[in-house]
Amino acid sequence: MTHPMDLIPAPLRVEGPYRCGFVLDRETTLYAAPGTGTTERWLRTTLGAAFALPLRDTADENAAHSIRLRIDDTLAPEAYRLHVLVDEVVEITGGGPAGVFWGAQTLRQLLGPDAYRKAPVRSAPVAGLAAQTIEDAPRFGWRGLLLDVSRHFMPKDDVLRYLDLLAAHKLNVFHFHLTDDQGWRIEIRRHPKLTEVGAWRARTKWGHRASPLWTETPHGGFYTQDDIREIVAYAAERHITVVPEIDLPGHAQAAIAAYPELGNTDVVDTAALTVWDTWGVNPNVLAPTEAVLRFYEGVFEEVLGLFPSTFVHVGGDECPKDQWKASPTAQARIEELGVGDEDGLQSWFIRHFDRWLAARGRRLIGWDEILEGGLAEGAAVSSWRGYAGGIAAAEAGHDVVMCPEQHVYLDHRQAPGEDEPMPIGYVRTLEDVYRFEPVPSGLSPEAAAHILGTQANVWTEVMENRSRVDYQVFPRLAAFAEVAWSALPAPEARDHAGFERRMRTHYRRLEALGVDHRPPAGPHPWQRRPGVLGRPLEGTPPKV
Ligand code: ACM
Repeated sequence: MTHPMDLIPAPLRVEGPYRCGFVLDRETTLYAAPGTGTTERWLRTTLGAAFALPLRDTADENAAHSIRLRIDDTLAPEAYRLHVLVDEVVEITGGGPAGVFWGAQTLRQLLGPDAYRKAPVRSAPVAGLAAQTIEDAPRFGWRGLLLDVSRHFMPKDDVLRYLDLLAAHKLNVFHFHLTDDQGWRIEIRRHPKLTEVGAWRARTKWGHRASPLWTETPHGGFYTQDDIREIVAYAAERHITVVPEIDLPGHAQAAIAAYPELGNTDVVDTAALTVWDTWGVNPNVLAPTEAVLRFYEGVFEEVLGLFPSTFVHVGGDECPKDQWKASPTAQARIEELGVGDEDGLQSWFIRHFDRWLAARGRRLIGWDEILEGGLAEGAAVSSWRGYAGGIAAAEAGHDVVMCPEQHVYLDHRQAPGEDEPMPIGYVRTLEDVYRFEPVPSGLSPEAAAHILGTQANVWTEVMENRSRVDYQVFPRLAAFAEVAWSALPAPEARDHAGFERRMRTHYRRLEALGVDHRPPAGPHPWQRRPGVLGRPLEGTPPKV
């Protein structure tokens, strides 16, 4: 049996475990009150499969020998209580359907690492439970992971697997970075060349952009609209919101390669552009024209039809202004719109889509560059260049998701030394992530209330497949999940040694799930990439 203190993320309160307990078996039934259907289905397909438990339905809410799922709306929607009682009863009571689901994730952890397998591995599968009571609720409502599927495409089944990994860590936002210079990954019916042309590239830089190496195999892929519907529905079953990102007005070369008229045709021969095959900040940005707005409105119309999320991410990061400075068309637009300069054009793009989304009942979220030149009303900010953008936005009354690159960019290397594959950025260890604090000290209480939560971001330039993504993401996502969910003390007072002790059990869960995490002692030989250049930065990241 797992000790409750092996739970990750740590719950708010635990009573027990007591020495008594019982074993779930083929006679254990399942009572699912109205509103708990997602958890009912999930328990049968996961725990049912792992231990060969039929979990037969019962309509008797007081049946002994039963898992009971209930809703008690006096609890917060994501809060839950889990009772393991000695008369062979497990009661999971959530404030809403999501709370019940997070309680079921805790139940799975209590059942031991074999609960994370897809079929029984012992002839008499044992799912033992100690009597105990757990009361739990998340610290933040936005607990996210960004996955960049543009730099390297992640096949649909691997995306679904990541949603399962998020759910297992009680994370509830999947920020889906669908478009960038290196690939357009979502089918848009009215603009088919976005994927016919924009979803693949002939070759790919192997390593950091300074590396001399190339992979000459064509790379690409995209999600059909039915694939997207499936991903969104699979996420919804797991109480995860998918926030789509369509990046503009920078990070748009794949779209310009497909439709050259989207670019600044008076300063570059955009017809000669291809989907970008290397990394960095790209000068080929969208032209500030009405035609470009109409094109992207068409894109967003289809995006809104596929993603029910209130928030829609429009990027807004890293938009070099050189082409707009050189472009007579852009300069004429600055005059005509009266926006002053090129930063004003960037704001004009963002404000346009802010109003456009608001008129359709949605809310815009963008990277902290959208603060430059004035933040659009109602817009929320993903604070990535440190805390400063998020602080300024929150103090001005805007909602903020904290994801500072110095702390929670999981593409950054997680150990010093030569063995880390294609090392990028500062060393950010498991402990560093464990001590990350999403709400900077000194924020006024009103501003702090605007911190919706936090997310970890995974940019995949140097991650060519799912296994490389796993290596960068795990084990650090476990620490991040605890930061996002649990009521932890101030960073320096956090019990990192205790977390590492619990991680011993958690590594066994991850391994049962088939996660190619970084081993604590360093990479396996096949996880190294000897001779492939990264861009490690020395020292500790500057305070931000
Ligand atoms: C970003 O990392 N450019 C948001």
